[in-house]
Amino acid sequence: MKKLFFIIGAPGSGKTTDASLIAKRNSEDIVHYSTGDMLRAEVASGSELGQKIDSYISKGELVPLEIVLNTILSAIKNAPKDVVIIDGFPRSVEQMVEFDKLLQNEDEIELLSVIEARVSEEVAKQRILGRAAEAAEGEQRSDDNEEVFYNRMKIYNEPLKEIQDFYTNRGLLKVIDAERELEPIVAEMEEFVKSKANI
Ligand code: C5P
Ligand code: MG
Repeated sequence: MKKLFFIIGAPGSGKTTDASLIAKRNSEDIVHYSTGDMLRAEVASGSELGQKIDSYISKGELVPLEIVLNTILSAIKNAPKDVVIIDGFPRSVEQMVEFDKLLQNEDEIELLSVIEARVSEEVAKQRILGRAAEAAEGEQRSDDNEEVFYNRMKIYNEPLKEIQDFYTNRGLLKVIDAERELEPIVAEMEEFVKSKANI
């Protein structure tokens, strides 16, 4: 049985960094995948699918539903550990609802919680533009610039209330203040995941 956690958060909330650290510190039990990183890996492979994905990512737009669902479902199913953290999903009401339907037919996957890493837009923007400035040449993300940031932020915020309500009603939403320093955020998230997953 796969015990699944989603982490959602604005671009720049630190969700990928937080989840990577938690998985690294608990590598016997926990594995982590970033939805954005998996999509970018397909782009980097140079495949035809990757070229299609890139045409959305570089503008900050959502990648077509089927592609995103296939990406995360195969990551979960092939995960080498039972506790799986996926960050960056769901990003739309459609992704949420369609994944929920898929879960109803999956006996081997249980969604234990959706963690929201919450930051203000100002903090998110500072972190993204900081990340862009620090990235080594050739390693900049095509979407880490001010113009695309606003589009990604808009796309993140638009469905947020409906996503929060959906998971709150199921008792699955956990909000974590992600404006603090990295360590207290990771510590709180790690403790929460481990207690929910019984590890
Ligand atoms: O989470 P991250 O900022 O790394 O995502 C990068 C891009 O990947 C998003 O801007 C979007 O184009 C795509 N994406 C998506 N659906 C998701 C997560 C990411 O379409 N659930
Ligand atoms: Mg990320």
